[in-house]
Amino acid sequence: MSNQGSRITLIYDGETFRVSEGRTVLVALEEAGLSFIRGVGCRGGVCGACGILYRLRGEPELHSALMCQEMVKDGMEIMPLPYFPQKKMGHEVVPGENESPAYLVVNLYPEVNHCIMCGECTRLCPMGIDVMGYVGMIKRGDLHGAGRESFVCVQCQVCALRCPSRISQPNVALAARRLHGRWEVPRADHLSRAIERLERPELNRVFRRLQHMDPADLQMLYQRREREPDDAPPGTWLPEDRSLLI
Ligand code: SF4
Ligand code: SF4
Ligand code: FES
Repeated sequence: MSNQGSRITLIYDGETFRVSEGRTVLVALEEAGLSFIRGVGCRGGVCGACGILYRLRGEPELHSALMCQEMVKDGMEIMPLPYFPQKKMGHEVVPGENESPAYLVVNLYPEVNHCIMCGECTRLCPMGIDVMGYVGMIKRGDLHGAGRESFVCVQCQVCALRCPSRISQPNVALAARRLHGRWEVPRADHLSRAIERLERPELNRVFRRLQHMDPADLQMLYQRREREPDDAPPGTWLPEDRSLLI
């Protein structure tokens, strides 16, 4: 039985709960009897599904958080974030002649030019991302910088909720990262060569044989496979049979 700790009061979606301290909001509410079918995914702060807004009783500031990461506090008044539609443009886009990827992102999302630099998106981001900063970089054509700044975005959408300029920041950042990766980063020739080599007929023959193997034989083969020793210095070990190495 888990330690209950002191009991505190919070309001979730209009309903009052007495919950144990020292829990995340998600765990505390589940212990209190709620069951989340939607609005919760990874439970580890990665998927961005569990965004909430909350105020502490008597305080003016509106906070945001991920329910699976935020610890409960006495007097929290919590609103789960509903799904709300945002502008999302297709990313399989090819810049036109004389059109840079950076120009294309701004063409797809011209509202970034209307950012009034209020800072509300940066203040609310539960991942601590300088959202206003990356919007500014996109305006200036710095997709590399915007990609780095927004890299840990979990797409919780909190920043877009209160943007007075109606910018869908996470989708703008996604477009910036994808277009930068596709068009601005030098192509990795060695990777292209490795992919070509994957088409070799002898590799296909091996895969086909594995696909049709009896599961017990496959398991045996897996257990008897040659393994890299745990203490092998990185990048030094090679298997005895190197015929299929790419
Ligand atoms: S909330 Fe919107 S207008 Fe305000 S800084 Fe962020 S992107 Fe700009
Ligand atoms: S940038 Fe926006 S969508 Fe991404 S984590 Fe921050 S608040 Fe969520
Ligand atoms: S459940 Fe995925 S971030 Fe909280």
